[in-house]
Amino acid sequence: MAIPSPHVLFVASECFPLIKTGGLADVIGALPLALEVSGHNVHVMIPGFPAVMEAARDIKQIAKIKALFGGQGTLYSARSDTGLNLVILEARHLFGVAGNPYQGADGKDRPDNFLRFAALANVAADLANGDLLNGWRADIVHAHDWQAGLCAAYLSTKPYSKVQSVFTIHNLAFQGLFPKATFAHLGLPSDMFSQEGLEYWDQVSFLKAGVIYSDRITTVSPTYAREIQTDDAGMGLGGLLKSRSNKISGIRNGIDTNIWDPQNDPALAKPYSASAIANKSANKAALQQEYGLEPTDDAPLFCVVSRLTEQKGLDLLVGAIPHIVGNGGQLAVLGSGDADLERSLTAAAKAFPGQIGLRIGYDEPLAHRLQAGADAIFVPSRFEPCGLTQLCALRYGTIPIVARVGGLADTIVDTNEAALMAKAGNGIQFSPVTFDALIGAIDRFFALYQDRQVFAALRRRAMKQDVSWAQPAQEYSNIYSALLSQAD
Ligand code: ADP
Ligand code: GLC
Repeated sequence: MAIPSPHVLFVASECFPLIKTGGLADVIGALPLALEVSGHNVHVMIPGFPAVMEAARDIKQIAKIKALFGGQGTLYSARSDTGLNLVILEARHLFGVAGNPYQGADGKDRPDNFLRFAALANVAADLANGDLLNGWRADIVHAHDWQAGLCAAYLSTKPYSKVQSVFTIHNLAFQGLFPKATFAHLGLPSDMFSQEGLEYWDQVSFLKAGVIYSDRITTVSPTYAREIQTDDAGMGLGGLLKSRSNKISGIRNGIDTNIWDPQNDPALAKPYSASAIANKSANKAALQQEYGLEPTDDAPLFCVVSRLTEQKGLDLLVGAIPHIVGNGGQLAVLGSGDADLERSLTAAAKAFPGQIGLRIGYDEPLAHRLQAGADAIFVPSRFEPCGLTQLCALRYGTIPIVARVGGLADTIVDTNEAALMAKAGNGIQFSPVTFDALIGAIDRFFALYQDRQVFAALRRRAMKQDVSWAQPAQEYSNIYSALLSQAD
């Protein structure tokens, strides 16, 4: 029987280009467009943060919610500049403050996060089930990360609901854990606060709710799907996830190849492509100037575009800076986060002027210029569910030097001796994630860079790699189809 084109409702806390703190936003901004190409009708539901209300187009009120966790809410339909169909939940008492979507100006998590994201999930479940708008329901709710983790819990309280649920884990390190006392405010049946429910060591876990109550669980690369089912990388949920093994799939992320396109990128000094690679040098020169680095094409220019957190392993890179400089390399960093890391990177930039450049902050166009101007990018993560910057780098002919973990292991093929013989390899992997292994990877990069022909071939292979959403979108589509045929 032919599967009808389903209404899929994505539910998430971030969505590029409206609000973004990391890769989650990129995925939510791009995957629905790829799914629409393969015939799905996808709406993306996000909170009405001030930045979202400002950036959204064609905003139309579709419903009023009179009682929403201590205030009122309004549901709008809208579109993004990139053509996404949006459903926006505006509620000033929950989402009205500008800035970081999760933290206050003091850098601490907002104390009412449990209510804010319970509200998002609760309204999403009502909308999907057809309880809010006459004639509008979803066949599938696709919830992302802990912020949308309660969607399936709320859906499971609805008798005879036909809505199927998919939950995607983008990062198991963020679990949405709240004190037990918050449970009473969520409006969920009391038996859900149990080991078989969303209780986790006497706390409420929004992420666990997504794992327990969803029909299917996905994560963002095949290797991470295996890793999270172990005690080592399962971050306390390894056993539970292993017990759900038959429901879990790992699907690698893609990137939006229209937004990340070196031939057509308004941020760049000069457009280029694999067949007009000489123009990449103009971007290198522009980047060296922007970062105050010595203007030489010969020096290998490394870059970093990253949140500065423990996950990303950049403390190891700080230690390797004298080695990079000592071998004639340059490094340009863009990132923000951990205060200690910001301090040590600032000190390194000061110690090696003209060799090391640093921008602390979040700057989308600069991220594009780094990808275009650099010869290599470091992603030395301790764990990495998928990682997107290595995919952008491949598309921009910038060689990823990555830790062999999670999605980095799945998307980067190490250019070792055997790979070189077989004319394969698109980057450099190292393992374990230690200082010594990182130094080894840097030395291997220097050697490849020095052989101009070998390096040019490596760059061509990198740029040829399919980093689009086409294949992964097909895999999500298969999951939706399987769920819908089960539900028939
Ligand atoms: P994560 O989501 O764990 O931060 P990803 O690699 O999946 O890691 O996605 C990071 C996304 O955020 C990429 O689009 C990257 O370009 C972007 N990014 C990270 N840090 C910055 C920054 N300081 N300025 C601009 N973009 C950034
Ligand atoms: C998370 C992960 C990152 C992944 C992104 C999008 O932030 O840390 O690896 O690429 O989500 O799925």
